[in-house]
Amino acid sequence: MRSMIGRSATLTLACLLIVSFTPTRSLAQAKPKVPPPFTFEQKTTSEEGNPSPGKVTFDHNKHIEKGQKCLNCHGKDKPFKTKIGTSPDLTMKAYNEGKACGTCHNGKVAFSTKEMGNCLKCHKVPS
Ligand code: HEC
Ligand code: HEC
Ligand code: HEC
Repeated sequence: MRSMIGRSATLTLACLLIVSFTPTRSLAQAKPKVPPPFTFEQKTTSEEGNPSPGKVTFDHNKHIEKGQKCLNCHGKDKPFKTKIGTSPDLTMKAYNEGKACGTCHNGKVAFSTKEMGNCLKCHKVPS
Protein backbone atom coordinates (compact mmCIF):
# COMPACT_ATOMS: atom_id res chain seq x y z
CA MET A 1 0.00 0.00 0.00
CA ARG A 2 2.75 2.38 1.01
CA SER A 3 4.76 1.71 -2.14
CA MET A 4 1.59 2.17 -4.26
CA ILE A 5 1.15 5.68 -2.89
CA GLY A 6 4.83 6.31 -3.36
CA ARG A 7 4.66 5.19 -6.95
CA SER A 8 1.59 7.23 -7.88
CA ALA A 9 3.08 10.26 -6.19
CA THR A 10 6.24 9.82 -8.25
CA LEU A 11 4.11 9.43 -11.37
CA THR A 12 2.16 12.59 -10.59
CA LEU A 13 5.38 14.48 -10.01
CA ALA A 14 6.83 13.19 -13.26
CA CYS A 15 3.71 14.32 -15.12
CA LEU A 16 3.86 17.74 -13.53
CA LEU A 17 7.50 18.09 -14.47
CA ILE A 18 6.83 17.10 -18.07
CA VAL A 19 3.96 19.56 -18.29
CA SER A 20 5.89 22.40 -16.73
CA PHE A 21 8.98 21.89 -18.89
CA THR A 22 7.17 21.47 -22.21
CA PRO A 23 6.96 24.93 -23.73
CA THR A 24 3.45 25.73 -24.85
CA ARG A 25 2.96 26.41 -28.55
CA SER A 26 2.53 30.14 -28.08
CA LEU A 27 5.60 30.40 -25.88
CA ALA A 28 7.79 28.50 -28.33
CA GLN A 29 6.67 30.86 -31.11
CA ALA A 30 6.73 34.05 -29.07
CA LYS A 31 8.67 36.73 -30.91
CA PRO A 32 9.37 40.15 -29.46
CA LYS A 33 6.94 42.73 -30.76
CA VAL A 34 8.58 45.13 -33.20
CA PRO A 35 7.46 48.73 -32.65
CA PRO A 36 6.02 50.64 -35.64
CA PRO A 37 8.12 53.42 -37.25
CA PHE A 38 8.30 56.62 -35.19
CA THR A 39 9.45 60.16 -35.92
CA PHE A 40 11.92 61.91 -33.65
CA GLU A 41 10.90 65.15 -32.00
CA GLN A 42 13.18 67.86 -33.30
CA LYS A 43 14.36 69.00 -29.90
CA THR A 44 17.87 70.20 -30.63
CA THR A 45 19.81 72.62 -32.77
CA SER A 46 23.47 72.17 -33.66
CA GLU A 47 26.23 74.07 -31.83
CA GLU A 48 26.12 76.59 -34.68
CA GLY A 49 22.40 76.99 -34.04
CA ASN A 50 21.22 75.05 -37.10
CA PRO A 51 17.89 73.30 -36.72
CA SER A 52 17.36 69.77 -38.02
CA PRO A 53 17.09 69.86 -41.82
CA GLY A 54 13.96 67.70 -41.73
CA LYS A 55 12.16 65.11 -39.68
CA VAL A 56 13.85 61.76 -39.05
CA THR A 57 11.77 58.60 -38.94
CA PHE A 58 13.29 55.48 -37.45
CA ASP A 59 11.95 52.24 -38.90
CA HIS A 60 12.61 49.13 -36.81
CA ASN A 61 11.59 46.75 -39.59
CA LYS A 62 13.96 48.27 -42.14
CA HIS A 63 16.79 47.71 -39.67
CA ILE A 64 15.74 44.15 -38.88
CA GLU A 65 15.49 43.40 -42.63
CA LYS A 66 19.16 44.44 -42.85
CA GLY A 67 20.03 41.80 -40.27
CA GLN A 68 20.10 43.96 -37.14
CA LYS A 69 19.07 42.20 -33.93
CA CYS A 70 17.30 43.73 -30.92
CA LEU A 71 20.44 43.21 -28.85
CA ASN A 72 22.59 45.22 -31.28
CA CYS A 73 20.71 48.31 -30.13
CA HIS A 74 19.07 47.48 -26.79
CA GLY A 75 20.63 46.06 -23.63
CA LYS A 76 23.67 46.53 -21.45
CA ASP A 77 26.21 48.90 -23.03
CA LYS A 78 23.98 49.33 -26.07
CA PRO A 79 22.89 52.77 -27.28
CA PHE A 80 19.10 52.76 -27.03
CA LYS A 81 16.48 52.49 -24.30
CA THR A 82 13.21 50.74 -25.09
CA LYS A 83 11.12 53.85 -24.53
CA ILE A 84 10.95 56.46 -27.27
CA GLY A 85 12.63 59.74 -26.42
CA THR A 86 14.61 58.48 -23.40
CA SER A 87 18.00 57.58 -24.91
CA PRO A 88 21.00 59.87 -24.47
CA ASP A 89 23.08 61.34 -27.30
CA LEU A 90 20.34 61.96 -29.85
CA THR A 91 22.34 64.72 -31.56
CA MET A 92 24.45 64.89 -34.73
CA LYS A 93 27.53 65.75 -32.66
CA ALA A 94 27.17 62.47 -30.74
CA TYR A 95 26.53 60.43 -33.93
CA ASN A 96 29.59 61.92 -35.56
CA GLU A 97 31.57 60.77 -32.49
CA GLY A 98 30.27 57.22 -32.98
CA LYS A 99 27.48 57.24 -30.37
CA ALA A 100 23.78 56.28 -30.70
CA CYS A 101 22.88 56.11 -34.45
CA GLY A 102 26.58 56.72 -35.13
CA THR A 103 27.61 53.35 -33.65
CA CYS A 104 26.60 52.00 -37.08
CA HIS A 105 26.06 55.03 -39.31
CA ASN A 106 29.81 55.58 -39.57
CA GLY A 107 30.41 54.55 -43.18
CA LYS A 108 31.44 51.04 -42.10
CA VAL A 109 28.32 49.23 -40.85
CA ALA A 110 25.93 51.66 -42.57
CA PHE A 111 25.98 54.99 -44.46
CA SER A 112 27.78 57.74 -42.56
CA THR A 113 26.14 60.68 -40.78
CA LYS A 114 29.07 62.89 -41.79
CA GLU A 115 28.61 62.97 -45.56
CA MET A 116 26.48 65.72 -47.05
CA GLY A 117 25.09 63.27 -49.59
CA ASN A 118 23.56 61.19 -46.79
CA CYS A 119 21.73 63.85 -44.76
CA LEU A 120 18.48 63.35 -46.64
CA LYS A 121 18.58 59.57 -46.25
CA CYS A 122 17.53 60.25 -42.66
CA HIS A 123 16.13 63.79 -42.78
CA LYS A 124 12.99 64.02 -44.85
CA VAL A 125 12.23 67.44 -46.19
CA PRO A 126 8.51 67.96 -46.81
CA SER A 127 7.95 68.42 -50.56
C1 HEC B 1 19.18 49.60 -35.19
C2 HEC B 1 18.80 49.81 -33.82
C3 HEC B 1 17.60 49.10 -33.25
C4 HEC B 1 17.28 47.77 -33.35
C5 HEC B 1 18.00 46.67 -34.13
C6 HEC B 1 16.11 47.59 -32.55
N1 HEC B 1 15.72 48.78 -31.99
FE1 HEC B 1 14.16 49.08 -30.71
N2 HEC B 1 14.55 51.10 -30.70
C7 HEC B 1 15.59 51.71 -31.35
C8 HEC B 1 15.54 53.14 -31.12
C9 HEC B 1 16.47 54.18 -31.71
C10 HEC B 1 14.44 53.36 -30.26
C11 HEC B 1 13.98 54.70 -29.68
C12 HEC B 1 14.91 55.11 -28.55
C13 HEC B 1 14.63 56.51 -28.05
O1 HEC B 1 13.92 57.28 -28.68
O2 HEC B 1 15.16 56.84 -26.96
C14 HEC B 1 13.83 52.05 -30.02
C15 HEC B 1 12.71 51.84 -29.23
C16 HEC B 1 12.17 50.60 -28.97
C17 HEC B 1 11.02 50.38 -28.11
C18 HEC B 1 10.17 51.46 -27.44
C19 HEC B 1 8.97 51.78 -28.31
C20 HEC B 1 8.05 52.80 -27.65
O3 HEC B 1 6.91 52.93 -28.15
O4 HEC B 1 8.44 53.48 -26.68
C21 HEC B 1 10.79 49.02 -28.04
C22 HEC B 1 9.71 48.28 -27.29
C23 HEC B 1 11.82 48.40 -28.89
N3 HEC B 1 12.63 49.39 -29.43
C24 HEC B 1 11.92 47.04 -29.11
C25 HEC B 1 12.79 46.45 -30.01
C26 HEC B 1 12.79 45.03 -30.34
C27 HEC B 1 11.85 44.00 -29.73
C28 HEC B 1 13.77 44.86 -31.27
C29 HEC B 1 14.15 43.59 -32.02
C30 HEC B 1 13.06 42.93 -32.72
C31 HEC B 1 14.40 46.15 -31.51
N4 HEC B 1 13.78 47.09 -30.73
C32 HEC B 1 15.46 46.38 -32.38
C33 HEC B 1 16.56 51.08 -32.09
C34 HEC B 1 16.61 49.73 -32.40
C1 HEC C 1 21.51 58.08 -39.62
C2 HEC C 1 20.56 59.13 -39.75
C3 HEC C 1 21.02 60.56 -39.87
C4 HEC C 1 21.87 61.09 -40.82
C5 HEC C 1 22.58 60.39 -41.97
C6 HEC C 1 21.93 62.51 -40.55
N1 HEC C 1 21.15 62.83 -39.46
FE1 HEC C 1 20.92 64.68 -38.63
N2 HEC C 1 19.77 63.88 -37.13
C7 HEC C 1 19.38 62.57 -37.05
C8 HEC C 1 18.57 62.39 -35.85
C9 HEC C 1 17.92 61.09 -35.37
C10 HEC C 1 18.51 63.66 -35.21
C11 HEC C 1 17.81 64.00 -33.90
C12 HEC C 1 16.33 64.22 -34.12
C13 HEC C 1 16.01 65.50 -34.85
O1 HEC C 1 16.41 66.59 -34.38
O2 HEC C 1 15.37 65.41 -35.92
C14 HEC C 1 19.26 64.58 -36.07
C15 HEC C 1 19.41 65.95 -35.81
C16 HEC C 1 20.02 66.85 -36.64
C17 HEC C 1 20.14 68.27 -36.38
C18 HEC C 1 19.57 69.00 -35.17
C19 HEC C 1 20.69 69.39 -34.24
C20 HEC C 1 21.47 68.23 -33.67
O3 HEC C 1 22.68 68.19 -33.94
O4 HEC C 1 20.89 67.36 -33.02
C21 HEC C 1 20.84 68.83 -37.42
C22 HEC C 1 21.24 70.28 -37.62
C23 HEC C 1 21.15 67.74 -38.34
N3 HEC C 1 20.65 66.55 -37.85
C24 HEC C 1 21.84 67.89 -39.52
C25 HEC C 1 22.29 66.84 -40.32
C26 HEC C 1 23.15 67.00 -41.48
C27 HEC C 1 23.65 68.35 -42.01
C28 HEC C 1 23.40 65.73 -41.98
C29 HEC C 1 24.28 65.32 -43.13
C30 HEC C 1 25.68 65.76 -43.04
C31 HEC C 1 22.68 64.79 -41.13
N4 HEC C 1 22.02 65.49 -40.14
C32 HEC C 1 22.68 63.42 -41.30
C33 HEC C 1 19.70 61.56 -37.94
C34 HEC C 1 20.57 61.66 -39.01
C1 HEC D 1 23.17 48.56 -35.03
C2 HEC D 1 23.44 49.33 -36.24
C3 HEC D 1 22.54 50.51 -36.56
C4 HEC D 1 22.14 51.52 -35.71
C5 HEC D 1 22.51 51.73 -34.26
C6 HEC D 1 21.31 52.40 -36.51
N1 HEC D 1 21.22 51.94 -37.79
FE1 HEC D 1 20.18 52.80 -39.32
N2 HEC D 1 20.77 51.33 -40.59
C7 HEC D 1 21.64 50.31 -40.27
C8 HEC D 1 21.89 49.51 -41.47
C9 HEC D 1 22.82 48.32 -41.56
C10 HEC D 1 21.10 50.08 -42.49
C11 HEC D 1 21.01 49.63 -43.96
C12 HEC D 1 21.63 50.68 -44.85
C13 HEC D 1 23.12 50.53 -45.04
O1 HEC D 1 23.61 49.37 -45.05
O2 HEC D 1 23.85 51.55 -45.20
C14 HEC D 1 20.41 51.22 -41.91
C15 HEC D 1 19.53 52.02 -42.61
C16 HEC D 1 18.94 53.16 -42.12
C17 HEC D 1 18.06 54.02 -42.87
C18 HEC D 1 17.60 53.80 -44.31
C19 HEC D 1 16.41 52.84 -44.30
C20 HEC D 1 15.17 53.56 -43.88
O3 HEC D 1 14.70 53.36 -42.75
O4 HEC D 1 14.68 54.37 -44.68
C21 HEC D 1 17.71 55.07 -42.04
C22 HEC D 1 16.80 56.24 -42.36
C23 HEC D 1 18.37 54.84 -40.76
N3 HEC D 1 19.11 53.67 -40.85
C24 HEC D 1 18.27 55.66 -39.67
C25 HEC D 1 18.82 55.39 -38.41
C26 HEC D 1 18.68 56.26 -37.25
C27 HEC D 1 17.92 57.57 -37.23
C28 HEC D 1 19.34 55.66 -36.23
C29 HEC D 1 19.45 56.10 -34.79
C30 HEC D 1 18.19 56.37 -34.11
C31 HEC D 1 19.91 54.42 -36.75
N4 HEC D 1 19.58 54.30 -38.07
C32 HEC D 1 20.68 53.53 -36.01
C33 HEC D 1 22.20 50.07 -39.03
C34 HEC D 1 21.99 50.81 -37.88
